[in-house]
Parts: sequence; C-alpha cells; structure tokens
Amino acid sequence: MDAAPTPFSTVIRTASHEQHTEAETSTFMSDLLGGRLGVDAYTRYTEQLWFVYRALEDAAPALAEDPVAGPFIQRELLRTDALERDLTHLHGGEGWRETLRPLPATQVYADRVAECARTWPAGYVAHHYTRYLGDLSGGQIIRDKAEKTWGFSRKGDGVRFYVFEEISNPAAFKRHYRELLDALAVDDLEKQRVIDECKRAFSLNTGVFRALGEEFPLSA
Ligand code: HEM
Repeated sequence: MDAAPTPFSTVIRTASHEQHTEAETSTFMSDLLGGRLGVDAYTRYTEQLWFVYRALEDAAPALAEDPVAGPFIQRELLRTDALERDLTHLHGGEGWRETLRPLPATQVYADRVAECARTWPAGYVAHHYTRYLGDLSGGQIIRDKAEKTWGFSRKGDGVRFYVFEEISNPAAFKRHYRELLDALAVDDLEKQRVIDECKRAFSLNTGVFRALGEEFPLSA
C-alpha cells in the first residue's frame, strides 16, 4: 500500500519554513521586538499592514463564493477595522486617513495581493495563509512585546490587530484552517504554484521589513 501523501498544510509550512525564519529574524523585526525602536517605528509598521489588509479584505466579498478561495473567507479573521482603531490610537485622531501613503515595497505587496484576488483565487489563498495563520500564531508574541515595550493596555488600542475577538479557540481555528488547506480544490501542479506564491508572499513581507529597517536604523 502506498504511504499516505503528506497533507498540503504540512507541505506549505515546511516549504516556507526557511523564509519564516528569515522574516522573523529580519533586522527590523529583531529591533522592534527587542525593544530597541520607538513607537514611531511600530506605527509605521502598522500603517503598512493596513495597506496589505485592505488589499486582502477589499477583495474578500467577491471571492466568498469562489470554489477555491471561498472556504477561506471567514469574517472572524477580518483585520481592517482593528487596524483602523489601532492607527487612530497611534496617531491620536482620525487625520491619518487622508495623508497615509504606503512604502514602495508595501505598494508592490498590496498590488500583488490585489492581482491574485482578481485573477487567481488559489494565489490569493497563498497570501491569505501567509498573513492570517501567521497572525494567529506569532502575532501573539508580537502583541505581548508591543504591550510591554510601548505600554498599550492589554489587548487594547494599539494592539487590536493581534486580537481576534471572535476566535475563542485559536488552536481549534488553526486546526480547521489546516483542514481547509488539506482540502484545497486544485491539482498537484496548482498546489506547487500556491507554494511558490506563498514563498513570494514571504519575500514581499521581507521587502517591507527591509524598507522599514532603512527608515528606522539603529544609531548603534
Ligand atoms: C518576529 C516575528 C514572528 C514571530 C515571533 C513568529 C512566530 C511564529 C510562531 C511561534 C508560529 C507558530 C508555529 C506553529 O503554530 O506551529 C508561527 C507560525 C506562522 N508564521 Fe510566524 N512569526 C513571525 C513573523 C512572521 C511573518 C512576518 C510571517 C509572514 C508574513 C509569518 C507567518 C507565519 C505563518 C504563515 C505561520 C503558520 C505556519 C503553519 O503552521 O503553517 N510569521 N510564527
């Protein structure tokens, strides 16, 4: 009897492991989570997330009935409102909406998400996975550090992005999410393309970190 094939959720996690480490240990992330940067750097990072999640979530309603991407569209995940509350807190008012511009690297990232959403639902899933499953995992570490470093109230304004109010059991949610990945309604060749797009999604994140690192160098 043939051995059971490795579940796709395992394949995609393993395939992106190296790039995960690269993103996690990027200079900007290390400095940010090491408490070596000011709240201005955290704000700038949160601003970039807003552009990325707008791209992910503006496209979500149109994909809700799609046979491939549709099952992943779950309202409990939506982050745009939380990001907007955080940004209003970080900027001390609503004025940020009119003036905010993405970094060039962020624009490239958001454009790619929007392009996948428009033309390639399975590619959109790669971006969906890379962000939301990460937020449900390592995001909790980032929240804890942010609360301690810049004094946000626990799970309050400033870190709402990391708080999934409607997901009471993140471990169970992630298990279910992995089942969705395992049941992804595409053939093996397309799965390989999804993995490639996931790697691209990680690179796009690393590109944003690089740009942020240049904007907030440590005066060592
Ligand atoms: C300092 C920053 C980060 C830390 C501390 C961190 C930490 C973690 C941890 C602890 C997990 C849990 C692994 C598990 O549940 O088995 C995880 C999973 C994950 N992270 Fe990160 N992470 C960081 C940055 C990122 C970034 C920048 C991305 C991509 C945008 C990302 C994407 C993911 C994904 C997709 C998963 C789920 C892997 C899977 O189980 O399939 N992470 N991260």
